[in-house]
Amino acid sequence: MTVVYTKEDLKAELLKLNKNIGFVPTMGYLHNGHKSLIEKSKSENEYTVVSIFVNPAQFLPNEDLDKYPRNKEGDIKFCEDLGVDILFMPKDVYFDYEPKVIAPKELASILEGATRPGHFDGVLTVLNKFFNLVKPKNAYFGKKDTQQLMVINNMIKSFFMNINIVPCEIIREEDGLALSSRNSYLDEEQRVMALKIFRSLTKAKNMIENGELDSNLIQKEMRGILEPLKIDYIEFVDKEFNKIDKIKLGESIILIAVYVGPTRLIDNIWI
Ligand code: PAJ
Repeated sequence: MTVVYTKEDLKAELLKLNKNIGFVPTMGYLHNGHKSLIEKSKSENEYTVVSIFVNPAQFLPNEDLDKYPRNKEGDIKFCEDLGVDILFMPKDVYFDYEPKVIAPKELASILEGATRPGHFDGVLTVLNKFFNLVKPKNAYFGKKDTQQLMVINNMIKSFFMNINIVPCEIIREEDGLALSSRNSYLDEEQRVMALKIFRSLTKAKNMIENGELDSNLIQKEMRGILEPLKIDYIEFVDKEFNKIDKIKLGESIILIAVYVGPTRLIDNIWI
């Protein structure tokens, strides 16, 4: 594995590889969710490039940029063990004056974007830079961040980017909690409370399997299970992220954001 810290070194390494690159962008503190993306990239491409960059542009001023968990040595070993070809860990990728990518407000001011205005602009701006640098054939993203996936697909289409975006399934702990670097913020009691998220999604799935398709009724049950957690949103949407009142099998997504103590966690299921 080659570890590079500058854009110049990355370009030089990529020139040696030539094409057929799978790319997995991350913010580090790697876990088995990231691992599944890397393994998929390894199985589908000749070379796999992983980036680790805690991107300041996608954090709001009041958010956890400074305390976002970091594990440089552990992450390098993690990637080395998985057979990653190039690990890109830039210090900074921004200039004083530069154009930004602005996510369309129709997609980016709802759900995550309602609570985190500007967040997706930051995500797209950094990915635009990384896509230009790495020039991957395939790029791998988790369904854990479903709205992020949708906003990225919109940029790929709109900017005529020649990159195939590969959505990857959510990886969970044995008890159902979706893996997230932010789970490291949870103490023991909060970790137990966080299980309510998956429990409420499972309840929704069971209700739907038993024929209940009314999103209001399902949401009511979910709210009951989530109590006393502070709910940011529970939304039922179709694949284009339009709100729906009635579940359509194979075409619906239920998304949740809740606060467990001060920690904001998101999860979703595709129905
Ligand atoms: P990060 O939160 O580190 O996530 C990197 C990738 O891992 C994302 O595509 C995310 O959806 C995926 N992922 C996280 N947890 C997962 C899980 N439990 N199962 C499956 N996939 C999971 O998302 C970001 O970083 C950033 O916004 C980034 C795209 C790197 C831009 O800065």
